[in-house]
Amino acid sequence: MYRIGQEEINAVAEVIQSKMLFKVNNGLRCAENFEKEGCARFGTKHMILMTSGNAALISAMTALGIGPGDEVIVPAYTYIATAMAVVATGAIPVIAEVDETLTIDAADAEKKITPRTKAIIPVHIMGFICDMDAICALAQKYGLYVIEDACQAIGGTYHGKNVGTIGIAGAHSYQQAKIITCGEGGALLTSDDDLYQKAMIYHDSNGIAFFGNQMDSFTMEPFCGNEFRIDEVKAAIMREQLKKLDPILQDLRRNKKEFMDELKDEYTFIPSHDPEGDCGVAIPFFFDTEEDARYFADAVKPTIMGAHLPIDTDRHIYCNWTPIMEKRGAMHPAMDPFKMDANKDHIPDYRKDMCPKTLALLSRTVYFKVNPDWTEDRKAVLLDAIRKANPKNR
Ligand SMILES: Cc1ncc(COP(=O)(O)O)c(C=O)c1O
Repeated sequence: MYRIGQEEINAVAEVIQSKMLFKVNNGLRCAENFEKEGCARFGTKHMILMTSGNAALISAMTALGIGPGDEVIVPAYTYIATAMAVVATGAIPVIAEVDETLTIDAADAEKKITPRTKAIIPVHIMGFICDMDAICALAQKYGLYVIEDACQAIGGTYHGKNVGTIGIAGAHSYQQAKIITCGEGGALLTSDDDLYQKAMIYHDSNGIAFFGNQMDSFTMEPFCGNEFRIDEVKAAIMREQLKKLDPILQDLRRNKKEFMDELKDEYTFIPSHDPEGDCGVAIPFFFDTEEDARYFADAVKPTIMGAHLPIDTDRHIYCNWTPIMEKRGAMHPAMDPFKMDANKDHIPDYRKDMCPKTLALLSRTVYFKVNPDWTEDRKAVLLDAIRKANPKNR
């Protein structure tokens, strides 16, 4: 969480005073207003505020008709929720390596495509931007859907276009650790009317549409869905957070650039598919060996608490996705994609060492989390600590 305060307190107080905390048309319509403001900010036709980023991914895939018998390609480095969303639809997640930018490697993803592949999920992890030209070219060549996981990259751009709006659908997360937050929350972004109708129906218990006329133009028959609706308290917080997004991004990006410019002759950083579009949440130092990376992280830790190697980030790495690696896709065997007849001929042989390139890259990288609110004094202290921790001078 970067910036939250009186504005959010006031907005929540207003919702409580209205005594209408549920998303209905005689309340304050915070959710509806957030969606309108979000569409304008991110340049998308539709946005559905939901309970989580995971809910947004599941809703998108469900709306696209992805299910048993299908495969969806995900990167080896992403939070487990990306892969779990695939499993939730009945489809099988197929894991691809990441490239030097730590985002999905389009060349490896291409090798993983089979006649069953329906979609690919590029994940803009840590605000780093995926190679969307390469991903979209793949999608076009093989007739795949692109569903962008922009959960960690709200407001990031690729060649000037907001991530989450380049594929047919995109997902944001507004969980505590994200760029803007309401504790837990998320949103689906799409400009596809058909997908939007189906996702509306799915995420809102078969399409109750509490805003009265929101579904009048729908041609889609209702089907049984889920309960991923947001509430007005969170929506009110998100309206305030959205106003803070651009100032946060501006300060994150400025601080990141300042540090990288300052240190460019002393350190190597991982490359980026779009340095301008990168969200600026982390400076990724890159070392020749894991030993150097660990030396650096340990040396800066007393000054910089958040410095860490991404290889140590537990369920962000495929080999730690235990239920997936061990193929336990659901409690009930008939609901478990790894046991379904439709999937029986294409269950992957998940192995802990199946993506060696990803593991090697993550072991040689150190993240240094950027704060948009650093003072000049704090920056000087941090720079000094980083310089002293250089493994070359050990
Ligand atoms: C890359 C990525 N995808 C998906 C998710 C799921 O988002 P949520 O926690 O809002 O369900 C997260 C959340 O941490 C994430 O980091």
